[in-house]
Amino acid sequence: MDPKVIEKIVQEMGAFSSDMGEIEGVPMLQDICKEWDTIHSFQARDGDVVVASYPKSGTTWMQEIMDLILQEGDVEKSLRAPCFVKVPFLEMAKTSLEIANTMPSPRLLKIHLPVQLVPPTFWEKNTKIVYVARNPKDCLVSYYYFHKMDQTLPDPGPLENFFHLFLSGKVSWGSWFDHVIGWWKAKDRHQILYVFYEDMIEDPQREIRKVMTFLEKDLSDEVLQKILQHTSFKSMKKNPMVNFSVLPTSVFDQSVTSFMRKGQVGDWKNNLSVSQNILFDEEYNKRMASSGLNFRTEL
Ligand code: A3P
Repeated sequence: MDPKVIEKIVQEMGAFSSDMGEIEGVPMLQDICKEWDTIHSFQARDGDVVVASYPKSGTTWMQEIMDLILQEGDVEKSLRAPCFVKVPFLEMAKTSLEIANTMPSPRLLKIHLPVQLVPPTFWEKNTKIVYVARNPKDCLVSYYYFHKMDQTLPDPGPLENFFHLFLSGKVSWGSWFDHVIGWWKAKDRHQILYVFYEDMIEDPQREIRKVMTFLEKDLSDEVLQKILQHTSFKSMKKNPMVNFSVLPTSVFDQSVTSFMRKGQVGDWKNNLSVSQNILFDEEYNKRMASSGLNFRTEL
């Protein structure tokens, strides 16, 4: 991987402003809004594979699993570049689109877009998409700490403030509720594998197998064990290609909190107050009642 490419993407991310705009009513960073026409007209190729999620749902984890499956468990190859270079994050930074457009197939691509904003090319090409969903309480807490650390996102203020922004969907990439429900409905019409973060924590081997089957890769148990080991929280936390330590503090200030922060189910209990939890449950029950979706907030 050309180090200049890494430098370019890091520079571009460093120049991002935290100003917000909207795309079809969904709050999005202004820098993404400016490039929206180019992003939306992105051209998929046969054989592309996509990882999609609401932010902080375990995207990087799934991305590493999928990359290793596509590389048939070759750990050396998985270390070829930082995760945001080897798996271009389509809507984030022009350089990601350039990398995606010039990289050889099969490509693994990342999006955080709500389903209605997905570039139509992916539906036309019947692209395989793995969607990762995480329970909203842990997602909220993880997103809050991420806002404090990611200098391209607006300052979240105190948790009390961010709590209301999250519940009302006034955060980057919009409402968690709309996101997970939109993708859940879409899975019956497209090639989408819907995976839960909590299931991955509970039994990563089982979930990796599901992804392997979905990607039509018949890998040996030995390879599966290698993928399992390399994608454990402990391994990923010390892997500079996935822990974002290659980004300068002007982009990700990991002195505030690590990107690989806790990697647990139920950390919300250490962060949300009793009254916030009651408010959250009320909103959750209202929004999710007829969704057919069931999230676990503890294991
Ligand atoms: P926490 O902040 O709760 O620790 P994303 O990649 O979508 O931004 O998600 C980041 C979240 O996934 C973080 O959650 C991070 O710690 C967690 N994560 C990343 N890799 C993981 C792994 N191998 N096992 C468990 N959790 C992981």
